Amino acid sequence: MAKPLLIQEFERAGQGHVFSFYNELAPEAQKTLLDEAAEIDLAEIDRLTRTLLAKDAATGIDLTGLAPAPYERRPENGGYARAWHDAKTAGEAALRAGRVAAFTVAGGQGTRLGYDGPKGTFPVTPIKQKTLFQVFAEKVRAAGVRYGKPIHWFIMTSNMNHAATEAFFKEHNYFGLASSHVHFFRQGRMPAVTPEGKILLETKGTIAMSPDGHGGSLRALDRSGALDLMEKEGIDILSYFQVDNPLVRGIDPTFIGWHVLRGSEMSSKMVAKAYAGEKVGHFCTQNGKNVVIEYSDLPKDYQEQIDPATGALRYIAGSIAIHILDTKFIRRMARGDNSLPFHRADKKIPTVDAAGNPVKPEKTNGVKFEMFVFDALPFAGNPVVIETRREDDFSPVKNAEGLDSPKTCRDDQLRQFARWFKANGAAIATDETGLPPFAVEVSPLFGYDEDSFADAWARLTPKPSINAGLYLE
Ligand code: UTP
Repeated sequence: MAKPLLIQEFERAGQGHVFSFYNELAPEAQKTLLDEAAEIDLAEIDRLTRTLLAKDAATGIDLTGLAPAPYERRPENGGYARAWHDAKTAGEAALRAGRVAAFTVAGGQGTRLGYDGPKGTFPVTPIKQKTLFQVFAEKVRAAGVRYGKPIHWFIMTSNMNHAATEAFFKEHNYFGLASSHVHFFRQGRMPAVTPEGKILLETKGTIAMSPDGHGGSLRALDRSGALDLMEKEGIDILSYFQVDNPLVRGIDPTFIGWHVLRGSEMSSKMVAKAYAGEKVGHFCTQNGKNVVIEYSDLPKDYQEQIDPATGALRYIAGSIAIHILDTKFIRRMARGDNSLPFHRADKKIPTVDAAGNPVKPEKTNGVKFEMFVFDALPFAGNPVVIETRREDDFSPVKNAEGLDSPKTCRDDQLRQFARWFKANGAAIATDETGLPPFAVEVSPLFGYDEDSFADAWARLTPKPSINAGLYLE
């Protein structure tokens, strides 16, 4: 039988070894391997091998002309209160007009948390143990009710967790959202390669493929038809957040309003870095463009520079992976010449040896390629960065223990609930960090941000006393 054309193409590209065990495979397994291989853009792998993997590939980034990016300060930090007020009004109008959709990137592997299952199915709330997906779903649902327009929610998965994610939503009846308003699509995949650029097999009949990074969301939104759907629905504002951060105000009228009033194609939230070496990306400018420089790429002396005018860190603006994207901009990025760059990550990648026996490497043996969504920033017109308070927007669950863990996230949720109670005149004891000595929980369906909570609390009669185990819905 003639050799499939695809195998011949792989051979011509110096990747014929991918099919070393092809003849040993059953027909269905052969088809699976061919399907996986067909996903691979050989020219792209070749280009990445010649650039990112080349022996003389530039390490580190060019820092010429780098400066801190300007950002909009919150009113209490010297920002112009009127502008923040106007932004909120404009954002509320956009929400009432149905122009806004929520977008969660949930295609990651969540290796640091070490949880078996899609990360969005991880329980996070203090009393009800609601999962990340349920928290977001209730926020989206409540915001839709508040603004009189149900909000569409797009969720990017990966091959590894797509079916489990969809099944989870079905099983939970979409947490009260209309299933017609919840849209799942898969992101693309990239093969892992050896440091010499040879594609790695995971088993004799499968390629070591992994998700192409959260930056893969831009082309996946296009390829999946999600952008077409948005166009049909009159949605032009996409509110982007990560699956691991239940504190995020995924629907924030003020942020939306800044984006709209500035005619921005991609907007971002920043928090003031807690300390010089904090591991967050930094909002900077370079050649008149906004860029995010990762902590690992910004030299220590830059990270430690002090702004003489304020006495604070000069590179103070930390990125917390919260953005708003204009849908036309996404289309342009997905289809135009300005595709996002790939980054290399050296990893231990389970593979097979020349005889096809499984190998569990002890040292890094391969390279994964990933795109990062913030690399779209330099291509965006009128990008705006606004300041947010960490406690209102950011407490991710990244690690099983320690920093950014289920414990820190739970405590941050409790602090937030306690702040809301206090701001509305309800007594609740807390320690000096604002943490109450017992668990309470506020459902997003009761209040999902300061304003919605205040309104719901004002309507509530009689007011409950704030005791251990109080749950408001
Ligand atoms: P992280 O960078 O925290 O990666 O992703 P991760 O894969 O979830 O976790 P680790 O590093 O293996 O522990 C940040 C966000 O980007 C999404 C994740 O789901 C998370 O919401 N993401 C990441 C994707 O959607 N696709 C990817 O390919 C990578």
